[in-house]
Amino acid sequence: MANHKIIIAIDGFSSCGKSTLARELAAKLGYNYIDSGAMYRAITLYFLRNRVDYTDAAQTHEALGNITLTFELNEENHRSEIHLNDENVESCIRDMIVSEKVSEVAALREVRAFAVAQQQQMGEKKGIVMDGRDIGTAVFPKAELKIFMTAAPEVRVMRRFKEMYATNHHITMDEVRHNLELRDYIDSTRDESPLRQAEDAVLLDNSGLTREEQLKMAIEWAKSRAKKKAV
Ligand code: CDP
Repeated sequence: MANHKIIIAIDGFSSCGKSTLARELAAKLGYNYIDSGAMYRAITLYFLRNRVDYTDAAQTHEALGNITLTFELNEENHRSEIHLNDENVESCIRDMIVSEKVSEVAALREVRAFAVAQQQQMGEKKGIVMDGRDIGTAVFPKAELKIFMTAAPEVRVMRRFKEMYATNHHITMDEVRHNLELRDYIDSTRDESPLRQAEDAVLLDNSGLTREEQLKMAIEWAKSRAKKKAV
């Protein structure tokens, strides 16, 4: 299989476990994992910190020119983490203040063009698992395996609440629910590459699946796609 590397695109709504599956799948296959959402979050963080009025095209354009995004391996947890202009921002990009604005920022055409060009470059050598909203539809429309993930809304709220509560005891379920609903709405109704299931994507509803079960299914799909490619 190592000789026939493929591109695996994982898309879906907020908090349905895309990054967990993508990270585990990449580790199993010896592929790179790229969290495309982290890129939009880091751009949003830069805009917030520098008070960029992103409704103004000129300001947005200038700000993007000052942003360099890289993924670096953290030797301690063996995870690839996002750096914004050489600063590791992994621990601040999931704060609610970023989550509240990220979908507005990600809806901007110039922001998407900036992120997508870098994402496509990362996939040039294949052997990559990327998760996001438009990976199978816009970033890698020819990806050999596309997975569209979904889970029941309450399952997603509970998952994200637990995740956020670990670092912020003031967070409430209502805040989390409201943010997920708002982002899903903006992400699926925007003009630029809205979130939707690609026609050739397999649907994975993981509401009742364990991590091991979903990983097993995805590995089987990946193996059969890599085999097909080898023929
Ligand atoms: O972890 P979660 O699924 O909640 O979100 P994320 O993957 O960190 O993405 C944060 C936001 O970035 C999303 O709500 C989208 O607005 C945007 N995004 C996007 O537009 N396109 C992508 N490929 C990935 C994320």
